[in-house]
Amino acid sequence: MDNKKIVLSGIRPTGQLHLGNYLGALSNFVKMQNEGKYDSYYFIADLHALTTNPDPKELHTNVRHILAEYLAAGLDPEKSTIFVQSDIPEVSEMYLLLNMHVGIGELMRTAAFKDKARKALGITAPNQGDDDEDVAKEIIGASTNKRVNAGLLTYPTLMAVDILIQRADFVPVGKDQEQHLELTRRFARRFNSFYKTEYFKEPQNFNFGSAPVKVPGLDGSGKMGKSEGNCIYLVDEEKAIRKKVMRAVTDGGPTEPNMPMAEPVQNLFTILKLVGTPDKVQFFTEAYNNCSIRYGDLKKEIAEDIVAMTTPIRERILDIENDDAYLHRVLEMGAERARARAGKTLADVREIMGITKF
Ligand code: TRP
Repeated sequence: MDNKKIVLSGIRPTGQLHLGNYLGALSNFVKMQNEGKYDSYYFIADLHALTTNPDPKELHTNVRHILAEYLAAGLDPEKSTIFVQSDIPEVSEMYLLLNMHVGIGELMRTAAFKDKARKALGITAPNQGDDDEDVAKEIIGASTNKRVNAGLLTYPTLMAVDILIQRADFVPVGKDQEQHLELTRRFARRFNSFYKTEYFKEPQNFNFGSAPVKVPGLDGSGKMGKSEGNCIYLVDEEKAIRKKVMRAVTDGGPTEPNMPMAEPVQNLFTILKLVGTPDKVQFFTEAYNNCSIRYGDLKKEIAEDIVAMTTPIRERILDIENDDAYLHRVLEMGAERARARAGKTLADVREIMGITKF
């Protein structure tokens, strides 16, 4: 291997990818890959998906979806290492080893854990934040048919291992994963200081040269997510895309020149900026400012632009998804490369920890 910096990121296979995933993450993975400045590793975090006990068939289908979507969006197995987490058994072994240096208290305090633990217990969080003790009591006191599994608690250990085992320099993730990345750095420092070594470096988040792209949803507020009527999937057909966009929330329209925009309208403009051309953005902004805008026309434009962007990807997804031989080949190649690097790290870590052969 040459000494390019390592970029690594993963996606949990919990469903199909939407335009927000594409514009916010995947399209940037592809850009970075094609710039050739980094050695990139992109994987599907199927072991992480197990923390919420998915249906086995569904899990397998979802791995296939994400893999096809990665490839259809332009990730190239010749240029990037594309793999499935569970194909790298070294990850599971190092997860056991690293857990010996991770505190259950710090794991219980992570925001994502508190959220998911409450969900597992069927409790709606009163106010998320400084209620660590409450969560702890709720977990310990939970009746036996409701439980928070240990995998959920140690989710951050597994994620840290994904990153550290490949000795990644940069980890492009969204805001919701920043706390996990901070823990990864903490675990790396702790390991180094306990064993008096400089073995692990601290991975950094990565912004693609500019501010992170946040794609708003179609339901008037917040970002694009998987909830009903709020998102466009990369595999949505033209008709479905048009229907969803035409139903997007707006307001009654501007009543005086140069009025500030309500959030739902602003959101549509944000989407137009992401998928359309600058002259269209200018045209509709002027129309808004002089009160001649028709939201129907704006939505038609957005729908056409989305269709133009996603149709070629959708067609490739459908082709790739059913090509078992190709998927198999891609993953075999990816696993070989990812395992080579992971195996080296694991051997070092075992030795550092005193697990050595006689
Ligand atoms: N936890 C991440 C998410 O839900 C997925 C993930 C698992 C990941 N391991 C990773 C992301 C390692 C980056 C690096 O989005």
